[in-house]
Amino acid sequence: MPGSTRIRLIEPADAVRIAAHRTRDAEALRRWEPERPAGFLTPEGQAERIETLLARYRAGSSWPGVVLADGQVIGQVTVLDIRPEPHMRRGTVGYWIAGAAQNRGHAGRALGLVLQVMTGELGLRRAEAATRLENLASHQVLRRNGFSPYGIAHSSIFIDGSWRDDLLWERNLGDTAEPPRTSR
Ligand SMILES: CC(C)(COP(=O)(O)OP(=O)(O)OC[C@H]1O[C@@H](n2cnc3c(N)ncnc32)[C@H](O)[C@@H]1OP(=O)(O)O)[C@@H](O)C(=O)NCCC(=O)NCCS
Repeated sequence: MPGSTRIRLIEPADAVRIAAHRTRDAEALRRWEPERPAGFLTPEGQAERIETLLARYRAGSSWPGVVLADGQVIGQVTVLDIRPEPHMRRGTVGYWIAGAAQNRGHAGRALGLVLQVMTGELGLRRAEAATRLENLASHQVLRRNGFSPYGIAHSSIFIDGSWRDDLLWERNLGDTAEPPRTSR
């Protein structure tokens, strides 16, 4: 049902469901994501990963979320590489949705919701993203949320056996945040 997408901070108990989704979708995800360490697809591997994400959240460098439909975890949406300094106030978004729940607008709505977290709770004023050139579904999700492509990082990331170019995306979130103080 449109509009039924929610997001919340990830929790240790999400490990089992995330491991199940990612095991089922491992072949499809290989095209879009870097290779993961051994054990990543197990509930134990995911529990470890969630601990790392939550440590980054406590340190202020990440906002790691899950995407929910009808109360069930169907994916993740994360703000990473947060730079909260007054002269930067930016973060990078990343996301995935389980294959069985794709093409129903969940990623688009989840990204819209995490942009609200970025402007509200996190006080950021710029959002960035990077996609593979061929990832048309992800391009559409970004465009629908006001992102524009601004460049290509050549031979930037090793995915599926080769160094790949990244298409770089940006969105200005507005200037509602306080301007930086002049440093002395
Ligand atoms: C990219 C991804 C997150 C999209 O999730 P989703 O919930 O299906 O996205 P949405 O339903 O909100 O929107 C998908 C859009 O892409 C379009 N789309 C889907 N497949 C497409 C394709 N092969 N070519 C062109 N457009 C496509 C859909 O029609 C839809 O467009 P619309 O907004 O005009 O309706 C999901 O496919 C995914 O997890 N992929 C694997 C991981 C990944 O690529 N993560 C992003 C890395 S940058």
